[in-house]
Amino acid sequence: MQATQPVEDTFTGASLELKDLSMAYGDFKVVRHMSLAVAPGTTTCIIGPSGSGKSTVLRGINRLHEPASGDVLLDGKSVLTLKPDLLRMRIGMVFQHFNLFPDHTALDNVALAPWKVKGLSKHDARSIARECLAEVGLAERSEHRPHDLSGGQQQRVAIARALAMNPAVMLFDEATSALDPELVNGVLNLMADLCRRGMTMVVVTHEMGFARRVADQVVFMDEGEVVEAGPPAQMFDAPQSPRLQRFLSEVL
Ligand SMILES: Nc1ncnc2c1ncn2[C@@H]1O[C@H](COP(=O)(O)OP(=O)(O)OP(=O)(O)O)[C@@H](O)[C@H]1O
Ligand SMILES: [Mg+2]
Repeated sequence: MQATQPVEDTFTGASLELKDLSMAYGDFKVVRHMSLAVAPGTTTCIIGPSGSGKSTVLRGINRLHEPASGDVLLDGKSVLTLKPDLLRMRIGMVFQHFNLFPDHTALDNVALAPWKVKGLSKHDARSIARECLAEVGLAERSEHRPHDLSGGQQQRVAIARALAMNPAVMLFDEATSALDPELVNGVLNLMADLCRRGMTMVVVTHEMGFARRVADQVVFMDEGEVVEAGPPAQMFDAPQSPRLQRFLSEVL
């Protein structure tokens, strides 16, 4: 990976707290009574089998899907009281599929939200976008469209796009699952760098090596519930519940 030159050395991550959060699609309860504390500047990795509700939890945190009950506190304040646009400025999200605008350059993909949502002038939005692209090691590629970038580069543009809103929390949903194997580490290293610099992060991942190396806490979900949570050494080396033991024996 190209060396990154951080424009800002550190981030001021916010605290995040899930309080008895339940999520449903219609009558189908997908997340049940989940409580979780994420301290400022720490990284929480959520692991678990397909369909266990991991993505739905992230969607609840920034209200892409409204919680059925319970609450999410951002620096102690309920996200339910914030306007969704404002909330999504403070909580950035990066998806498995990068969701970039194909007809916009990398620079314009990153500048769009600061300009349209935050209301900065186009000039200021582009100057922030340039800084954020430099942070993810893509200063030289800013005039390229997504089509002309590798998958790993496109994902780094998506991360730059989230950073451009100066978020206090970043959510990652399987950010490397769609990448060719040789591109995965560049994006994981970038995520580890954000963590080291104090971003608060909640990362849904199948990359157990990343979770072990970077996470402050690991949360194992199954069937919409937190089955077990703890520091990575405990979760990976001494899992307590038979369900986590079985899951790890299948994925490691
Ligand atoms: N939009 C939706 N409408 C109805 N049901 C949904 C919707 N999205 C997800 N579900 C269901 O909710 C459950 C949890 O899905 P979710 O996507 O949160 O799982 P996940 O742990 O992220 O799985 P994966 O590892 O495959 O991404 C699944 O049973 C899924 O089929
Ligand atoms: Mg998912």
